[in-house]
Amino acid sequence: MKVIHRIAELRGALAELGGAGSSGAGVAALVPTMGNLHAGHLSLVAQARRSAAPVVATVFVNRLQFAPNEDFDSYPRTLAGDCALLREAGCDIVFAPSEAELYPEPQGYTVHAPTALGDILEGHFRPGFFVGVCTVVLKLFNVVQPRVAVFGKKDYQQLMVIRNMVRQLALPLEVQAGETSRADDGLALSSRNGYLTPAERAEAPALAQALQQLASQLRAGATDLAALESAAMDGLRQRGWAPDYLAVRRQSDLGPPQAGDARVVLAAARLGATRLIDNIEV
Ligand code: PAF
Repeated sequence: MKVIHRIAELRGALAELGGAGSSGAGVAALVPTMGNLHAGHLSLVAQARRSAAPVVATVFVNRLQFAPNEDFDSYPRTLAGDCALLREAGCDIVFAPSEAELYPEPQGYTVHAPTALGDILEGHFRPGFFVGVCTVVLKLFNVVQPRVAVFGKKDYQQLMVIRNMVRQLALPLEVQAGETSRADDGLALSSRNGYLTPAERAEAPALAQALQQLASQLRAGATDLAALESAAMDGLRQRGWAPDYLAVRRQSDLGPPQAGDARVVLAAARLGATRLIDNIEV
């Protein structure tokens, strides 16, 4: 496995492996990450391996997608450990650029998701988040020129925003969704779980449980979505959480569901200083 920090070197390595740069057409499978990897990321790498070769994982904590009050500075940078895990998972190339390499000048050109998708839910509570995500992901697509890119369903809205960007900008690659990996107690794996105190970690599965309960109510035929959402958020508040949202949406575009639509329940909530997100398809 090669660990590469420079764009020019990455392009050379991909060309040697018969990927982007030689024929112009991409062949690689890309797994973009911000590092501090866990089993969820490794399952995306395994999926990438089944889809295309070489497998390129990127490790880059993208300042553009963090608001000034968020955890950009404290986000764990664990490149050595990440590389050990990626090597074991069968990754071929790790691309870990510095900020100066990926953003050698202020990034004046940015990609904005349409407001109907980009400004709701995560986009509402984290203004600018999807601009940062779309911009870095498009840049990584341009650098790696993958044939396939794999994103986790835990970041459900992010996956949809990127899928739509790829479709609307006619980017020549397939976006694949990776299933959410969970701990035995149901907590969705996330790099931010590492911020939880032991007591918070014991409480954290309550978020997935609230989603499961609401999903069961929907499957049983409940129709008053506002009442269900509000009861679920109250339940979390009583346990000490500060929910940003807990919402039943249409799977296809995250709009309000109509009868017969496939649905997804999404939530974001703070437990102490840690903001967790999760979702479940119904
Ligand atoms: O999901 C993430 O880890 C990040 O948002 C991504 C896609 C790597 C872009 O920085």
